[in-house]
Amino acid sequence: MSLESELENLDLKSCMRKTPVEVEGIPLFSETAENWDSIWHFKARPDDLIICTYPKAGTTWTQEIVDMIQQGGDPQKCARAPIYKRMPFLEYCSPIPSSSSGFEIAKTMPSPRFLKTHLPVQLLPPSFWQQNCKIIYVARNIKDCVVSYFHFHLMHQFFPEPGTWDQFLEDFIAGNLNWGSWFDHVRGWWTAKNHHPILYLFYEDMKEDPAQEICKIAQFLEVELSELVVNQIVQHTIFEKMKGNPCVNYTTVPSLIMDQTVSPFMRKGTVGDWKEHFTVAQSERLDDICAQELEGSGLTFRTQL
Ligand code: A3P
Repeated sequence: MSLESELENLDLKSCMRKTPVEVEGIPLFSETAENWDSIWHFKARPDDLIICTYPKAGTTWTQEIVDMIQQGGDPQKCARAPIYKRMPFLEYCSPIPSSSSGFEIAKTMPSPRFLKTHLPVQLLPPSFWQQNCKIIYVARNIKDCVVSYFHFHLMHQFFPEPGTWDQFLEDFIAGNLNWGSWFDHVRGWWTAKNHHPILYLFYEDMKEDPAQEICKIAQFLEVELSELVVNQIVQHTIFEKMKGNPCVNYTTVPSLIMDQTVSPFMRKGTVGDWKEHFTVAQSERLDDICAQELEGSGLTFRTQL
């Protein structure tokens, strides 16, 4: 049965807009919470690479860059499957019965595996630390992140109802959304890089100088790239190109789940779109909260280029 016809037979409403369930105080999809024991005991392998982000920080972009690096800059090889099949989403468990969970897909994959997670540092399954796996963390400034997450909630039917922009912003600041507090997330992973091989990247740096950030990733992965291949990767992963690429733009997901007419997955891909959404008062308040929350951490973000 195709996924589309399965969806037609399924009581899809019961899967949609569900309230998150907390795991160790972090709100997660209820299906993730139900499978938490298996996720927590996931067996990492030493040559696994895991890409970690708070949602909407540029995960898909980084995934495609990593795959392009691994494939020697060959776009045909990257077109072998949609990104979510090439790099399983560790903790994602679909409410659709025939869809395998991220950790189950990962189990069957040959090494070296490339995985994705949005888990905060304290919820990463311990075997990743024990196996000393390489980790790429990507952070994005809070204002663009929350705007992107708002639109994603509007279009993705498995997320809770976002409510109005004003309500959503309050929920985000309070850490009530899936995967919890942005502040704890970016700080937690920032600290973890002091004792673990973590390449900590920023979305804004990737926008400003993609070639430089691609080279950083390649070096971290111990892959040598010629200038030509670096340029091929830059061209292939530029926003406009990725927007039209079905292997990364999530148009392969049925519109009953991700309604791209509400908001495309590849929405704007810019730094500073927050200015179209924030009032001056909201912006100043978030600046104050950010300054307090990040004080002494050494972490700074750019909200415009
Ligand atoms: P916007 O909603 O601001 O456009 P994630 O993959 O973590 O879910 O992040 C999605 C966000 O990254 C979206 O942000 C999306 O447009 C942006 N994005 C995806 N690919 C990109 C690219 N190649 N260049 C710049 N931004 C990209």
